[in-house]
Amino acid sequence: MSYQYISVDSIERVGRITINRPQALNALSVPLMDEVGEAINAFEADEGIGAIIITGTEKAFAAGADIKDMAGLDGESALAQDFPYNASGWHALNRCRKPVIAAVSGFALGGGCELAMACDFIIAADNARFGQPEVKLGIIPGAGGTQRLIRAVGKAKAMELCLTGRMMEADEAERAGLVAYVTPADELQTRALATAQTIAAQSSTGTAMIKDCINQAMEIPLSSGLVYERRVLQALFGSDDQREGMTAFVEKRKPAFKRK
Ligand code: HXC
Repeated sequence: MSYQYISVDSIERVGRITINRPQALNALSVPLMDEVGEAINAFEADEGIGAIIITGTEKAFAAGADIKDMAGLDGESALAQDFPYNASGWHALNRCRKPVIAAVSGFALGGGCELAMACDFIIAADNARFGQPEVKLGIIPGAGGTQRLIRAVGKAKAMELCLTGRMMEADEAERAGLVAYVTPADELQTRALATAQTIAAQSSTGTAMIKDCINQAMEIPLSSGLVYERRVLQALFGSDDQREGMTAFVEKRKPAFKRK
């Protein structure tokens, strides 16, 4: 598959999508987000892949949806297309059962911050800058900025960030709980790859179910979430991966999980 706005590679069970439209600071046009969708779906279908990284260039993960494309949009056509969900990337990301890591260097603004937050977790380079500057353009976030940001950083900071449109640096984003960890910019790809490879080496049923349970926790009450988690755990007893994982522990060897 050849792409115009992204590049794709895979390294030891990790599939990596690199957004590559540097002349527009990786602005997320619809064709670009369609390519992201195709790439996610291809990695999802590939049993040789256990985790996915979405990353950008050094200066920008993505500086938002493409403002030049949006400038002439009217409400009726935005509604008719269901903008920005007229691009398959958003749907593919929401549906993907494999863990997806955002490795963010430089700007992650507007739709770029939303794309990072739609991933399962964010690893940030120390030059990363996050923000929801839509208010400055006379619009509001539209791919989760007002919904996922509050769940990550709480109401006060989500309100302040969205209402002012200011940028938040990587260390503040880490303190606020938006990112899992911060790394020097020149180590971002190596560190993200190492984390992704650790995940990709686990039981793929286990990683898919953990992702599912943690995502459920964002949606349902604690009492229901605890039941959900317990039922998933119970269902995993007797699975190939549970048998192999525990047998390997008892036999003091590394588990060899089946890849299916
Ligand atoms: C289209 C963009 C862009 C964007 C940057 N560019 N961001 N093009 N859409 N979101 C283009 C610029 O027009 C310019 O191209 C080139 O990238 C370099 O940008 P500069 O502004 O010259 O770079 P710099 O001075 O370093 O400033 C960087 C920046 C600034 C602070 C990130 O570019 C900026 O404020 N960008 C917009 C950020 C933003 O508002 N994002 C939210 C968009 S709304 P040319 O050819 O002109 O030189 C949104 C809604 C989400 O995301 C809805 C759901 C998805």
